[in-house]
Parts: sequence; C-alpha cells; structure tokens
Amino acid sequence: MVRLREPHWFQHRLLKGPDTDINLHVFSAGCPETDRMLWFRDWLRSNARDRELYAGVKQELAGRNWSSVQQYAEAKTAVISAILARAHGTAGPRRSLPASHRTPRDGRWPVEFQLMVRKRRMVRAFREDPLAPEVVTRILANGNRAPSAGFTQGYGFLVLEAAEDRARFWQTITAAGHRPDPAETAAPLLVVPLACKAAYLERYAEPDKGWSDRDEGRWPVPYWYIDTGFAALLMLLTAVDQELGGLFFGLPLKAVAAVRAAFGVPADHEPIGVLAIGHPAPGGSTGSAWRGRRSLNEVVHRGHW
Ligand SMILES: Cc1cc2nc3c(=O)[nH]c(=O)nc-3n(C[C@H](O)[C@H](O)[C@H](O)COP(=O)(O)O)c2cc1C
Repeated sequence: MVRLREPHWFQHRLLKGPDTDINLHVFSAGCPETDRMLWFRDWLRSNARDRELYAGVKQELAGRNWSSVQQYAEAKTAVISAILARAHGTAGPRRSLPASHRTPRDGRWPVEFQLMVRKRRMVRAFREDPLAPEVVTRILANGNRAPSAGFTQGYGFLVLEAAEDRARFWQTITAAGHRPDPAETAAPLLVVPLACKAAYLERYAEPDKGWSDRDEGRWPVPYWYIDTGFAALLMLLTAVDQELGGLFFGLPLKAVAAVRAAFGVPADHEPIGVLAIGHPAPGGSTGSAWRGRRSLNEVVHRGHW
C-alpha cells in the first residue's frame, strides 16, 4: 500500500504491508537520491562507529511519538548529514546552522543537539596539535554561560595552554602521586574549574536572599560544586561541538594541594577536577565506561520512588 507520496522529491513513494513488515522506498529511475542512499548504506556497513551512532539515534527517535512520518524523517536528517559529511571528508569547522535549525520546531529541538550529547564520551588520548585561540575562547566563554545559584557565578578557570605550564602541571600532580596515562598528557588545553564557596556565602547574605549569618548548615547541597560542574559540562559539550575530545578527571587530595601551591590558587578557590581538551587520537583507555550506562528504567522513578 502507498503510504506517502512526494512527487517533488524524485517521485518518492513509501509503500508498506499489509502482509509484510517493511518500508519500501521507490524513486524515479537514475535519480541521485538512490546513489546517496546506497552510498550511505555501504558506509555504515564498513564503519562500525557511525553504524552504532546512527542506530542509537534511530532507536531514540523511534521511542518518541511522531505525528507524521515526515517529522521523523526530518529529525533523522541531522545525523545523516553529519555522517555523510565526515564520510566524504568535508567535516571541517562547523558552519553556522540554517535559521530553521536554530529555533524549536513543533516544540522540539532539532536532533543535532541529541547527536552532540551522544558523542560526548570522555576521550583519553590526544594529538599535540594546538587549538585555535578562538576555539579556546569559545570553550571558556561557554563555560561562563553556566547557570548558577543566585547568579553567584562563584567559579573560576585556571587555564594552561603553554607547553611549559602544562608540563609543570603534569609534573606537579605526578609528584603528588597521580599517575596520568601518557596518552592524556598530549592535550594542548588544560582547564581547572575552581569552586568558590565564599562567593556563595557572600551572595546569599545579600538582602534578597537573607542568609546573613552565613551558616553553611542552611545549604541543602553545596551549590558551588554544582555550578562549577555545570560549567565543566558546558566546556566538554563545546569541545564536542568543535570536533574535539575532552576528559574530566578528578584530582586526589594531595594533588589538589600541590596544584594550589604550584599555580598560586587562592585559598578560597577549590579545584573540582581537571579538563583535558584536544584533538582525539587513537587509543587511550576507556576508563570506567566498561560498566555500561544504566537503563532509563533504573534511573527514573515516575510519580513515587
Ligand atoms: C567527578 C568525575 C570524576 C572523574 N574522574 C575521572 C578520572 O579521574 N579519570 C578518568 O579517566 N575518568 C574520570 N571521569 C570520567 C568517568 O569515568 C566517565 O564520565 C564515565 O566512565 C562515563 O563515561 P563517558 O563520560 O565516556 O560517558 C570522571 C568523571 C566525573 C564526572
């Protein structure tokens, strides 16, 4: 049975059942779309990483409710374009998105964001190539777009780019007992996000908040770490957006003290970890990712725990 007719698009027809569970796409003879689709199929057959990415996005989209096949097809377009661009070797610095991609359509954001979230896995091996200054600035500026309690913005970023500063950083934490994987140490950018508790105690003592006793017992959770963590995640996502990889790793207590001393960190600023960012290189450990992600059912408790 014909389920969809798109005469404007190479006479496309979508046929389904009734007695078979397939989607049969028919195009006019010799149209470029069939070549593109076959090329895409062959690429996925030979490229496990993109196959997995495409399957993941399709599964995710299939779990949503769509009011039309067309809506679903449009949502798929971003991942297909990204894979095709990479496959053809044309994935350079991202061009700005067309206006239609910058606003929510039918209350949903386009799938490109979804792709970025899925691609954000920790990278633990880097090439040494330096990053363009505007890329570094964008990463840091996006970190500074973090939401923050009372708009306190009580975070700071120690940024290490010069080879000698980075070498000193790795030496400092190695001497303090943290053994980095050599593949990680090539990263051309290190950002240490620091949380400033004092800034929050001050901010919440202001008249519109009113906790003028600065009693730490009032805080249900330490917002200074939350906000600094938000900033770190924004920087990791920006790295993905710039076709880079990033790693967030924690520092043991002794290494925290050593970094403070070596880089003149003020006493009221606390490093929450370190971001290593750069062009991904092959290899590197997978860290704790072997544990696999918990299913949504294990994580989500709807209505009541
Ligand atoms: C607070 C925090 C500390 C982490 N510390 C380390 C670390 O010291 N070394 C490391 O290799 N990865 C570290 N990670 C990365 C996690 O291992 C990683 O996020 C997790 O295995 C899931 O993998 P994915 O981020 O690639 O999805 C840390 C992540 C967080 C959020």
